[in-house]
Amino acid sequence: MFTHIPVMLDEVLHYLDIKEDDTVIDCTLGEGGHAYEFLKRLKKGVLIGIEKDREILKKAEERLKEFGDRFIPVNANFSEVKDIAGSLAGGSVNKIFFDLGISMYHIKESGRGFSFLSDEPLDMRLDPDGSLTARDVVNTFDEKKLSEIIWAYGEERFSSRIARFIVEYRKTKPITTSQELSDIIKRAIPKKFWPKRIHPATKTFQAIRIFVNDEIDILENSIKDAIDVLKPEGRICVISFHSLEDRVVKSVFSEKAKGCVCPPDFPVCICGRKKEVKILTRKPVFSGERERAENPSARSAKLRCAEKLSDAQAQMQGGNNSQKVIA
Ligand SMILES: C[S@@+](CC[C@H](N)C(=O)[O-])C[C@H]1O[C@@H](n2cnc3c(N)ncnc32)[C@H](O)[C@@H]1O
Repeated sequence: MFTHIPVMLDEVLHYLDIKEDDTVIDCTLGEGGHAYEFLKRLKKGVLIGIEKDREILKKAEERLKEFGDRFIPVNANFSEVKDIAGSLAGGSVNKIFFDLGISMYHIKESGRGFSFLSDEPLDMRLDPDGSLTARDVVNTFDEKKLSEIIWAYGEERFSSRIARFIVEYRKTKPITTSQELSDIIKRAIPKKFWPKRIHPATKTFQAIRIFVNDEIDILENSIKDAIDVLKPEGRICVISFHSLEDRVVKSVFSEKAKGCVCPPDFPVCICGRKKEVKILTRKPVFSGERERAENPSARSAKLRCAEKLSDAQAQMQGGNNSQKVIA
């Protein structure tokens, strides 16, 4: 009944360190695989599960119904995490989790053209009410824009050629299925340059999906907002699946872990910056060999975690001049 295997579950449970009366937000509920294990540990606490796709949310609700009203499903974008914490948890929570991207459900069951291996209508929307589909993108965007998207969100070196082949093809007929798009991409990339470990259409499909669902642009502010709503000593864990996502997570964590940046010879801090978090994973944590063998999706996963500092801790750990006071 459930298609998705939760990635890096042991590592996530270790770093989140859920206590029985915590309030937890799972920002990417999916089929509720991680959430199920969180709720098992939340004997008295509550889990708020945010999910953009109302179809997969139904599956999670079915899976998690045994936890009664300790599970609160929310069909929303995680960019609303601050408002959601405000209305459902009094403004602050103990733990927040992001498991970015799409679920195996989307690839194997949704029928929305996420996979280059299946022949399905080219849609790729996670939110069925979203205004833009993958079909709109490949049939209406000009060649330059297509090439930019495929390069920016897929880091595909043949982005210009693929864009040109897409535009040529659609002069004869609209591109309507995932199979058609996959075949165009295969023709655009010279065979001797086909990647060895992944399908030649992987990067382009990723790029179009990211663009359709606005996955990268909302990420920075969403993670900042999530850190804002953490209680002192609260923890945030984020799993990312490609370098674009990981770069954003790393940069937000580093920025929030930086204290005062005034020159050391300043008598007092004038920048006003305070350390907000302590990073728990200096380097990203990768899945173990066994998990990677059993679950290929885990191969590209990177986990980063941080802990929110209290005001007193921030003062202690502050940075160049944070402890200097005017005499
Ligand atoms: C990797 S899956 C999560 C899998 C989940 N941890 C599990 O164990 O079943 C990511 C989920 O996040 C959802 N999602 C992606 N972007 C979102 C967003 N901006 N807001 C809310 N949900 C989002 C996707 O629809 C997908 O179901």
